[in-house]
Amino acid sequence: LAGCGAEEAPPDLRQPAGWDDALRLPDAEDHDPAPDVVEVHLEARVAAIEVVPGLTTEVWTYNGMLPGPTIRAKKGDRVVVKFENHLPEATTVHWHGLRVPAAMDGTQHVQKPIEPGEGFEYSFTVPDAGTFWYHPHLRSSAQVGAGLYGAFVVEDAAEEAPLGDELLLVMSDIGVEEDGSLTAADESGWFGDYFGREGGTVLVNGKILPTVAAREGVPQRWRVVNAARSRYFRFAVPGQPLVLIGGDAGLSESPLPVDEVRLAPGERAELYMLPVEGQSVVIPLLDANRFHLPTEEKPKDLMRLELADEPPGSGAPTLPERLAEIASIDTAGAQRQAVEFMEQGDADGAVLGINGQTNGSLMFSAKTNTVEIWTLTNTTNYDHPFHLHGFFFQVLDIDGAEPPVRAWRDTVNLVPGKAVRIAIPFDDRAGMWMFHCHILDHADLGMMAMLHLM
Ligand code: C2O
Ligand code: CU
Repeated sequence: LAGCGAEEAPPDLRQPAGWDDALRLPDAEDHDPAPDVVEVHLEARVAAIEVVPGLTTEVWTYNGMLPGPTIRAKKGDRVVVKFENHLPEATTVHWHGLRVPAAMDGTQHVQKPIEPGEGFEYSFTVPDAGTFWYHPHLRSSAQVGAGLYGAFVVEDAAEEAPLGDELLLVMSDIGVEEDGSLTAADESGWFGDYFGREGGTVLVNGKILPTVAAREGVPQRWRVVNAARSRYFRFAVPGQPLVLIGGDAGLSESPLPVDEVRLAPGERAELYMLPVEGQSVVIPLLDANRFHLPTEEKPKDLMRLELADEPPGSGAPTLPERLAEIASIDTAGAQRQAVEFMEQGDADGAVLGINGQTNGSLMFSAKTNTVEIWTLTNTTNYDHPFHLHGFFFQVLDIDGAEPPVRAWRDTVNLVPGKAVRIAIPFDDRAGMWMFHCHILDHADLGMMAMLHLM
């Protein structure tokens, strides 16, 4: 309120002025005036974008932007996405992590591929707050690799105080040739399928080496999405403690101070840190393409943090000890399943599969409103991020050790030789769901399976 006395207004942590606007991702326009409906128009099309300075690249985009526009809603909203496909080939849109009805999940098992010139209307409510994302689920390694991804943030109106200046970071990479053309989707053939293809140009919010202007004395809350086709990322700020405050599906139960955070393809993390007073900080984000291996690679600076010339914030909120109420799952009477990510020999060499089957031929069935415990193993000698559609799970243990904090996840990295046990509470959303490796080259090579919830 104007003129209401000498008391200084607290800093507006959600919309601070003076940030590097180039790094701020635009939200998709809401075409529905109703307060609890978000209607977004999304068009997949090829657009000429200067990703690498001086070169023009024909990127596959949503609404001509890289990444696509951020879809932003509040927990409980109805979201309607009027989608049109103007790509040269068929596509679908999958809402990664959102607990939507099966028919809205965007796989070819629940909908017809959307042909060029056609459209589809997705409509669902968003029951959970968190940092999610959207991407195609048809030839996904090629389509995501060419630029089709965007963030989907669901805010929790009940979250009392903002935890810090919020910044959404969509991590990805893209292959750009010297003449600016996109690297062929099937570059390096079988080898590329097998080891995954990391585009040579690493991007933060579609930018190479961007700068974040942070306000002195005000914490940063980063919502990070790994939207890369196959690349893992490692976050560390030298000399700076980082606090992991959330993951795939919103805030964790309590804050966890960490030296670094590694993110597998498909995964999200929420990080909290206080910018160092009076200093510029360089953030090395290692692109460790094999998650579990020690990173002997030289750190690569992928993003810079500089203190802005903004007036410093005051009274920075402190992090509460309890961030979210996350109940433990009652696993009494739970059905059990074993899931093995594996190589299966054939004449031309190994093919990647799950439990000896490939490309969705493995089908689990489960009952609605039950709890299952799945034991996930990886008998190959490199990592695979397991992703389950439609449902959150909690990690019970990794090689017998309980995780340090309780959190809801939809993606968990599988390290060779270590068993990960997860508990999945199914609800009443019957239908066909998928689970697969989120190294999308692996998924397209066969590491995909089905779950029929009945
Ligand atoms: Cu991120 Cu099956 O998807
Ligand atoms: Cu894999």
